[in-house]
Amino acid sequence: MASAMSAQTSLGDYYSAVQLRQDRWSALREACEALNRTDQSAAKLDAAVEKARGLLAALRPIEVYWAFPGRASFEHLRKLLESRQFDELAFSTRRVARALTSGAYRRRSVPVARAEGEYDEADDDLHTSIESRALLKPYFEVLIVDQMTDYQERFQRQSLQKIRRSEDAFTYEAVVTPSLEDALIAILFNHNIQSVVVRPGLTLKSENNLPILQRYLTRLQDEEVDELEPHEYGPELCRLIAKVRPELDTYLITDRSAEEVAGLDLGLCRRVFYNQEDFLELHLNILRGVGARYKTPFFSALKEYSKQPTGVFHAMPISRGKSITRSHWIQDMGAFYGPNIFLAETSATSGGLDSLLEPHGPIKEAQERAAVAFGSKQTFFATNGTSTCNKIVVQALVRPGDIVLVDRDCHKSHHYGMVLSGAQVVYLESYALDAYSMYGAVPLSEIKEKLLKLKAEGKLDRVRMLLLTNCTFDGIVYNVERVMEECLAIKRDLIFLWDEAWFAFARFGPTYRQRTGMNAANVLRVRLRTQEHAAAYEAQQAELQDADIETLVETRLIPPPNARVRVYSTQSTHKTLTSLRQGSMIHVNDQDFKGEVEQSFHEAYMTHTSTSPNYQIIASLDVGRRQVELEGFEFVQRQVEAAMSLRRAISTHPLLQKYFKVLTAGDMIPEGFRESGIESYYNPQQGWTDIWESWANDEFVLDATRITLTVGGTGWDGDTFKTQILMDKYGIQINKTSRNTVLFMTNIGTTRSSVAYLIEVLVEVAKELDELLDDASRMERLAFDRRVKSLVVDVPPLPDFSRFHDAFRSSGDTPEGDIRSAFFLSYDEENCDFMPLDGREMDDAIAAGQEVVSASFIIPYPPGFPILVPGQVVSAGILAFMRALDVSEIHGYRPELGLRVFTAEALARHAGQTARAAE
Ligand SMILES: Cc1ncc(COP(=O)(O)O)c(C=O)c1O
Repeated sequence: MASAMSAQTSLGDYYSAVQLRQDRWSALREACEALNRTDQSAAKLDAAVEKARGLLAALRPIEVYWAFPGRASFEHLRKLLESRQFDELAFSTRRVARALTSGAYRRRSVPVARAEGEYDEADDDLHTSIESRALLKPYFEVLIVDQMTDYQERFQRQSLQKIRRSEDAFTYEAVVTPSLEDALIAILFNHNIQSVVVRPGLTLKSENNLPILQRYLTRLQDEEVDELEPHEYGPELCRLIAKVRPELDTYLITDRSAEEVAGLDLGLCRRVFYNQEDFLELHLNILRGVGARYKTPFFSALKEYSKQPTGVFHAMPISRGKSITRSHWIQDMGAFYGPNIFLAETSATSGGLDSLLEPHGPIKEAQERAAVAFGSKQTFFATNGTSTCNKIVVQALVRPGDIVLVDRDCHKSHHYGMVLSGAQVVYLESYALDAYSMYGAVPLSEIKEKLLKLKAEGKLDRVRMLLLTNCTFDGIVYNVERVMEECLAIKRDLIFLWDEAWFAFARFGPTYRQRTGMNAANVLRVRLRTQEHAAAYEAQQAELQDADIETLVETRLIPPPNARVRVYSTQSTHKTLTSLRQGSMIHVNDQDFKGEVEQSFHEAYMTHTSTSPNYQIIASLDVGRRQVELEGFEFVQRQVEAAMSLRRAISTHPLLQKYFKVLTAGDMIPEGFRESGIESYYNPQQGWTDIWESWANDEFVLDATRITLTVGGTGWDGDTFKTQILMDKYGIQINKTSRNTVLFMTNIGTTRSSVAYLIEVLVEVAKELDELLDDASRMERLAFDRRVKSLVVDVPPLPDFSRFHDAFRSSGDTPEGDIRSAFFLSYDEENCDFMPLDGREMDDAIAAGQEVVSASFIIPYPPGFPILVPGQVVSAGILAFMRALDVSEIHGYRPELGLRVFTAEALARHAGQTARAAE
């Protein structure tokens, strides 16, 4: 599929300039090989020359942003074409295209011109072993921003090359661009760039008008760069780089005085140089900057430790592999994993290692580095998944009786967290997507309304936390900054817990980053301190003096300047980045952490963390952090590209459209929450939509890397399609399904070929269905149509959270409930009874006004969140939904007994006790 996108494919068909570049090089290689054929007429040859010339011209504006093959080599190709040295041209183009694909230019110098007597070599780079590749020096590119003559540019390049030393840990090449805009294009396009050197001669505007590259500049629209004076370009560029690629090292070289520069906002600029030509100093700084990100304190300590000879008089017989090498029966385990993992297995916390529970050494440092990488103030590693992280955060912050607002379809670890902490829970309703049997996310109006009602009842001081899932399993992403701003306007010290189990990667894509908890927290911290903000707040306060709840819900509220930024996010690093399973992180950006939370956080961390945490998981978190800081941008970019080509391929393939549909933002987010009006990311008529604006402003956006495909049209429900078709027949693994959809998740390891394979499979499934229906009898056809109708049309509406029974509620009109006492009330068998789902018993009871109250969590898979929690009243809607569910797995429900409910006596007794306690 990829190679089919050749030179004929129009620009609008490309989501990414990286793919465009790859495909143009392949097309050029093919064109040059065609030139080299001797059996063609002069006219044909001229046409072929013209084509190659066109491709070279099309590549030129792209290649200026990359160090390889570089300007001189590119010029060499052009000269070979013009002098009609087709054999040489074919050789050189082939070599460049191959080196770009294999990445050989990163490992060794790849001269473009053929040396005397040299033959075409097979590229052995692809066969290099992992071990030998680990010994090579990593390669990167340094962007130098300055308007230079060719001579000056060569001088810069050569000066940096001459300084290279054999002891350098990395190698790099320079890319030179003249202007601020070019520099921004370069850092958003060329993922090899790790450092940027901003020199005083840079200009403002780019002369490049390639639309696919210009698209990157739309991100600047809200920045008023046009009004800058030339001496401000450098500092402004440093600031913008910090905004779009904060992980890069930026160096500003200036000819202005130190005092003038000292007062400027330079983003995350590492150093300012006053001497333009001190190349050694610059070189050493560049290497040190990349070296700091490359450093993996705990992984390195573990490697060192595993080399030391030690005698083990401690636990862990597997340590150093002793229990395996001496075994007669488990040798295969040793053979499978290799020796290193056992050499690195230890229970020691000294000898260069560290303790996760009381870190002072390399684990502490690894966590500090992760905090920098993810934009938090503190980061804590967890070796037991985000399930544990969620419980830690909730226990650390929520005291018994505190009110917590939680999205109802959140992960079950939160519900258990509420039980453990004794929170009074207010469940928030997500908007429902009944047609696909899934929930979206919680509208901001719902959150504000609940908060304002709590305020009206005088309960705001008990409200402690808002807990939301960002992004949801299906890919709905909140406008994190806006949610926090408006909630802080109602309660100025509200704590936010963003469950980003699926969103760790988001930090490393500039579009995605703006919707992460940590980024939004940092933006808010700055904004709340500004004069403009204080003025806007005062003005709004005057306007809203006597406003009622309805008006406040409709108004975009501004938080007071003295609001506290208190944000936590929990991430399953292992779900979206490189880490062993269960590797997760808690990121903290809480202005009151040190003063108020540190101690209780420590206790909660101790409650839930094993005293034998797995070192391999911790080491993998450390290495995963190194990876994202150095190539997270590249990997996320590739992931989004792969997802976008999958979306495009399915939505334009005529056969696939008969049975499948990729759900778009328009399908998954109601219109009122999409202020930008964006319907889909790809439209066959218009090509790609630039998603930046919608990601900057809309209430909800769709994470394009999660692709929901409707499969109801095939007559199979989601679960059958997943297990019987995708898994059993084609070996494709997926996780989530709904009644009529399946979810394909791309990740940073997804390749263009795995995308192509998935399309092939879907096409095959569609073809088989076509054939089956062609040969079907009238009755078979009718049965098929009926199945499709039942899956696509007759979908049971998703039920709302009903309410907690009064026995578990405090006074007043607000909905908070005491889930903990309901949970423990059910421990006593005598308090509970079972009611069968089938039959009329439950309906009759409800019709007669009896309140049927669940004694347990009932969690069907899918959708995977509780449709009933302990203490919740069973409504007719919930009953209908449970009966209509055709899933095989319902946790907490025992079909042979029925639904576990509280007895009326238990409820009455509990209500009495609660009332007495309140007196
Ligand atoms: C939203 C959400 N939060 C938390 C978790 C738990 O994460 P972990 O598997 O890392 O424990 C999951 C798991 O699927 C999840 O979907």
